[in-house]
Amino acid sequence: MDLSASLLDIRFANPLLNASGVWCRYNEELDGLRDSAAGSFITKSCTLATRAGNPEPRYYATPLGSINSMGLPNEGYTYYLDYARAYDYAKKPLFMSVAGLSLEDNLAMLAAIRDAGLPAVVELNLSCPNVPGKPQIAYDFAAMDRMLEATSREYGRPFGVKMPPYFDIAHFDEAAAILNKYPLVAFITCINSIGNALVIDIEQESVVIKPKDGFGGIGGDYVLPTALANVNAFFRRCPQKQVIGCGGVKTGEHVFMHLLAGASLVQVGTALQEEGPGIFARLNGELAALLERKGYTSIEAVLGKLKTL
Ligand code: FUM
Repeated sequence: MDLSASLLDIRFANPLLNASGVWCRYNEELDGLRDSAAGSFITKSCTLATRAGNPEPRYYATPLGSINSMGLPNEGYTYYLDYARAYDYAKKPLFMSVAGLSLEDNLAMLAAIRDAGLPAVVELNLSCPNVPGKPQIAYDFAAMDRMLEATSREYGRPFGVKMPPYFDIAHFDEAAAILNKYPLVAFITCINSIGNALVIDIEQESVVIKPKDGFGGIGGDYVLPTALANVNAFFRRCPQKQVIGCGGVKTGEHVFMHLLAGASLVQVGTALQEEGPGIFARLNGELAALLERKGYTSIEAVLGKLKTL
């Protein structure tokens, strides 16, 4: 079975990678992804300076997924740039996630990444829901427009954007119209966690994570249909761009659904956190078996082929 995939004219052995934030803060974790069956991998969303993140507990798994309010704990962008400089790109493609706390921070980091002249691909995170006092940029369309205009001008290379989920057709339309203004926005990753949810422990009569009075982003089973809708909404509206699916993936069937909806690559978050990098071999095996049962010989034939009634 040919599981190979393509994004930005780069070939990937298979469509799978981690969602930024999971298994990618430290070099040892990144090496674990490098050595796994994932087709590529991405670094933790970085800021200009090192951040400890929000107080713990800040991640909690439930039977249906997870809630987190990590608060962008990361080692600072130079740590990930050093990793990208030392990395052997013959192994598999590498993405770098960038999540500056301001436009100026993003431009400074992107200039350094650009000047390094590496094959690493940037995913600009416009959707972290967990930094107190910093609203998600992609929920402020004017701010998102300014960010993309400045990033396109200053960075000058193709890049991707990590989007939050939208829940209204008018918002899909408006967000897509802004993204379509910028040809250098080459891919759209849908979705980040559904922000500011609340999980309650009945016995303790309490929230389960400490930051923000228990409010946090949810992932896992809770978000799969929302993720698929966002992948498909942007796949339909942004024909010159590619989409990376993210949300609710824990089986090969879920990967297949993301591909049908229009995802060129598929990220794994909560399920990777719970199962570890061995999950990629399992997902590839399940995906290959499903494709074979359905008579496909490659994933290219599935991409975006979702039927409507
Ligand atoms: O809190 C966090 O570090 C999560 C970031 C994100 O979801 O983008």
